[in-house]
Amino acid sequence: MRLGIYTGSREGDAEWVAALKGLMPDLELRAFPDWGPGHEIDYAFVWQAPADLLQQCVNLKAIISLGAGVEHLTDIQSALPEGVAIVRMADPALVECMTEYVLMNVLIHHRSVLDYQEIQRQSLWQQLPASLARRRRVGFMGLGNMARPAAILLADMGFDVAAWTRSGHHQNGMESFAGTADLSAFLGRSDILVCLLPATPATEGLLDADTLALLPPGAAVINAGRGTLIVEDDLLAALDSGHLSGASLDVFVHEPLPPDSPLWTHPRVILTPHMASPSIVESAARYAAGVINQLRNGAVPEYIVDMIHGY
Ligand code: GLV
Repeated sequence: MRLGIYTGSREGDAEWVAALKGLMPDLELRAFPDWGPGHEIDYAFVWQAPADLLQQCVNLKAIISLGAGVEHLTDIQSALPEGVAIVRMADPALVECMTEYVLMNVLIHHRSVLDYQEIQRQSLWQQLPASLARRRRVGFMGLGNMARPAAILLADMGFDVAAWTRSGHHQNGMESFAGTADLSAFLGRSDILVCLLPATPATEGLLDADTLALLPPGAAVINAGRGTLIVEDDLLAALDSGHLSGASLDVFVHEPLPPDSPLWTHPRVILTPHMASPSIVESAARYAAGVINQLRNGAVPEYIVDMIHGY
């Protein structure tokens, strides 16, 4: 059995190879560019691999995505060997990091940290009215495995949490909204909107001038899903007009974010370089090894990508 590895990392694949080798000593590992003849590769562990590399692997049984997002694979779907299973990265460490990121940013907006920073810059000793968690309506766009623990944690802390999903996932302790029909009602009750949707044709540009206008005045937006969910110019306009009080952005339409983007210096934007939920070698390799072991034993891993919906 041979595993092709393409991590897309500037530092090279050595660390990943060492971790995977330690976990699966009997598997032959082939790190890019030394994959050898494509037909010899049984499994692939990749991040943003070129379509023609995977296309040559005609005997590929499964591709495991090195990150939670799988648009790097769904976008090249037509080039992938027929019938190949695509498995999402669902390492619990990734979820742990995302939960921290969401919690940190919800609390930043809830406790008016952007306003206090403004006040601090003016050397003013000034207190603003506080609001209780139970009066703060947090809305999750997407309630998949990356979002659910943060939503549950915030609900446990007393926040008024709701979730909007394609098919209306029910989660105890939070109101659920489903599909296009419920979008405006959901947005209208989201003081802090947390976007954790994947990049698919259905989510592209979902938050534009019209939908952002449905958020309550003074709402804040947190995006750690994908940059394509939000029309950046429309978001900037909503921040500039004061309709939105702030945004925490970890993902962007173009990454790295171009140096001339006005988002870099906007006083109402907390900007981070796609760091919310990084794949950590040790634990992500352990997850990948677990998936490969399941596949080798004929079991079906939990996070197989639904190629119709794209996640
Ligand atoms: C990061 O965004 C990932 O897809 O893992």
